Amino acid sequence: MANAVELLVKDHEKMKTLLGDLLKSDKSASERTELLGKVQKELSVHTQIEEEIFYPAFADEKSPASKKKMYHEAKEEHRAVEKLVIPDLNDTAPSTMEFMGRAKVLKELVEHHMEEEEEEMFKMAEETMTEDQLKELGQKMAARKKELQ
Ligand SMILES: [Fe+2]
Ligand SMILES: [Fe+2]
Repeated sequence: MANAVELLVKDHEKMKTLLGDLLKSDKSASERTELLGKVQKELSVHTQIEEEIFYPAFADEKSPASKKKMYHEAKEEHRAVEKLVIPDLNDTAPSTMEFMGRAKVLKELVEHHMEEEEEEMFKMAEETMTEDQLKELGQKMAARKKELQ
């Protein structure tokens, strides 16, 4: 059974592959639409398990400012992607250069976000939580993921 960090990093790897495919120049408009749909679905489940389960376990009211800062920054990045970038992409014809420009920005934002999570938040989580806690969180997230999919 994957612990919390392993589960989230695995999601990130899947997301990188999907975003890489979305940016490939040989994709047809219908393939781009399909890929964007997959990215949107994956992102929505992933951000939901992070916000519902992982982030609150990582930082609460009593946590040091450094943790709370990471928590709030990460949440705002989720919001920017979900409320601005993805809706814009859904409103753009997938055959256009405008779509590809927006897809590139989506890829860069999401990759930057995942990198920060892995390099800062997840590292700190591994330092401040026990292996049992991380395993328990992993189980909770795996179960919630099943419900959401
Ligand atoms: Fe995230
Ligand atoms: Fe993440």
